[in-house]
Amino acid sequence: MLAGGSGTRLFPMTAVISKQLLPVYDKPMVFYPLSVLMLSGIREVLLISTPRDLPLFRQLLGDGRRWGMRIDYAEQAAPRGIAEALIIAEPFLAGAPSALVLGDNLFFGHGLVEMLAEADARAAGATVFATRVKDPERFGVVAFDRDGRALAIEEKPRRPKSNYAVAGLYFYDAEAPTLARRLAPSARGELEITDLNRLYLERGALGVIPFGRGIAWLDAGTPAALLQAAQFIQTIEESQQLKIACVEEIAWRQGWIGADALQRLAEPLKGGAYGQYLLRLAQDEA
Ligand code: DAU
Repeated sequence: MLAGGSGTRLFPMTAVISKQLLPVYDKPMVFYPLSVLMLSGIREVLLISTPRDLPLFRQLLGDGRRWGMRIDYAEQAAPRGIAEALIIAEPFLAGAPSALVLGDNLFFGHGLVEMLAEADARAAGATVFATRVKDPERFGVVAFDRDGRALAIEEKPRRPKSNYAVAGLYFYDAEAPTLARRLAPSARGELEITDLNRLYLERGALGVIPFGRGIAWLDAGTPAALLQAAQFIQTIEESQQLKIACVEEIAWRQGWIGADALQRLAEPLKGGAYGQYLLRLAQDEA
């Protein structure tokens, strides 16, 4: 779906959110994947979670209006796989392309916004992001030929064909819900996002963007990874004096809210460093 003129592409998308509503250092974990969608220019979000967690997410994020966004909510009754998100989101997407991000995936680094723009610019097919890891058997794994073209994509292979894990961020054309409906559950009983991506690969329509050295991708799904992610965010934020995944700041920089609205969002938080940061941004602008 296209709305507005050049550079104002608004497109609906889907976020699959983990059950964790935990903070990563100074903000809720969900802010990190949400901020990636926002940096892609996406203002309409469908948050999918369990019946238990959905009300908590709703309480935390609201309808998105205060950030110049629209956030809707949908239940996934049981964890039947990440690809089910596309089926759940079908009415929300209403035939539009989408981006899907996992609730426990964090992305940070130089060139990220350009990579998101590259994925968004692809008119047909799907785009995924790959990064070198030491334990590929824990992830979706993509293997390349000598020319860097994707050859195979497998979910948690026992003998990985490469060290490149597929990150939990996917851009799809409008066909994704229809293709997701064709998937059968895997051995672990899930509609695998990797199986959906393989359908695109088989049609020659899967783009893979490798993250270079400049991008950090963190899956905060385990206790150790969560602690490491928090320490990573703290280190970067303290050395740069800039916040990562500060959704209020991104909404303001994207021009979705003005400095006055930013100031209003900061007021109730001004007792802490997060609110002080927002106030500083709003006042510098003024
Ligand atoms: O983190 C990247 C990896 O995420 C990819 O490399 C894999 O290809 C992909 O399958 C996925 O693997 P995980 O095993 O890490 O997925 P997990 O089951 O841990 O779920 C990831 C998030 O998605 C988590 O926040 C919960 C949410 N989720 C998961 C399932 C299975 C749902 O919302 N619904 C679901 O049905």
